[in-house]
Amino acid sequence: MNAQSHYENHLAAFYAWMSGNFETKQQEQQDWFSGHGVLPRGNKVAIDLGAGHGLQSVSLARLGFSVFAVDFNQHLLSELNARAKGLPIRTVLADLKNVPQYATEAELITCMGDTLTHLDSIETVRNLIQQWSALLPAGGRIALSFRDLTEELFGEQRFIPIKADDQRIHTCFLEYGPGFVRVYDQLLEKQNGEWVQKVSSYRKLRMGADLVKEMLADAGFRVVQHDVIARMQYLLAEK
Ligand SMILES: C[S@@+](CC[C@H](N)C(=O)[O-])C[C@H]1O[C@@H](n2cnc3c(N)ncnc32)[C@H](O)[C@@H]1O
Repeated sequence: MNAQSHYENHLAAFYAWMSGNFETKQQEQQDWFSGHGVLPRGNKVAIDLGAGHGLQSVSLARLGFSVFAVDFNQHLLSELNARAKGLPIRTVLADLKNVPQYATEAELITCMGDTLTHLDSIETVRNLIQQWSALLPAGGRIALSFRDLTEELFGEQRFIPIKADDQRIHTCFLEYGPGFVRVYDQLLEKQNGEWVQKVSSYRKLRMGADLVKEMLADAGFRVVQHDVIARMQYLLAEK
């Protein structure tokens, strides 16, 4: 199962539930942007890659950006559209590897919430960061957030409870390989009083912040902020 079919056949249907309260999570993203001065100062256009159901796109639009929200999953983009009413957000159904499909002049590119690790190789990430740099003017900014999965978990540590309520239980199981982790999303769902299990998996890249910083520097960026929030690496860089 690759990342796209994993979302299509499994994760997209319960992604919003799994992510928790939208308003709270969205406000956290908005606060991170505004706290680090990520406000419009150029052509006001932002490209949000791997936008999902809109945590960053909605935040950026509320801060005054016109947002192109790019994702290869229609289900999540439809949820984003339902939330984007009245906000300057245009959704683009595209694979973020296919840069010409969303290339436009922008002052900000975001790829957040661990989307970067969904790509197929370190080389793909390196190559994309170069292409994203080419879309930005001098002074343009890029914001990335991702999990550093370089440190291996062992034994029972690899079972990670994500969310549970009366109707659903979501657990992740991690299987480590060289350079990647296979992530199994196990969903138990109550149907007609019975628990029904559905499992699907996909690969995530194992990249540390230092490697991504090096890629950013090679593409002409200067890292201006590095935060670690809820085990997620946040990098903000300026061209
Ligand atoms: C972990 S979610 C993050 C979504 C959102 N940014 C957030 O923080 O909630 C990853 C998103 O990236 C999308 N995605 C992953 N790989 C992609 C690709 N190659 N092209 C377009 N979208 C991709 C998935 O469909 C999913 O919406």
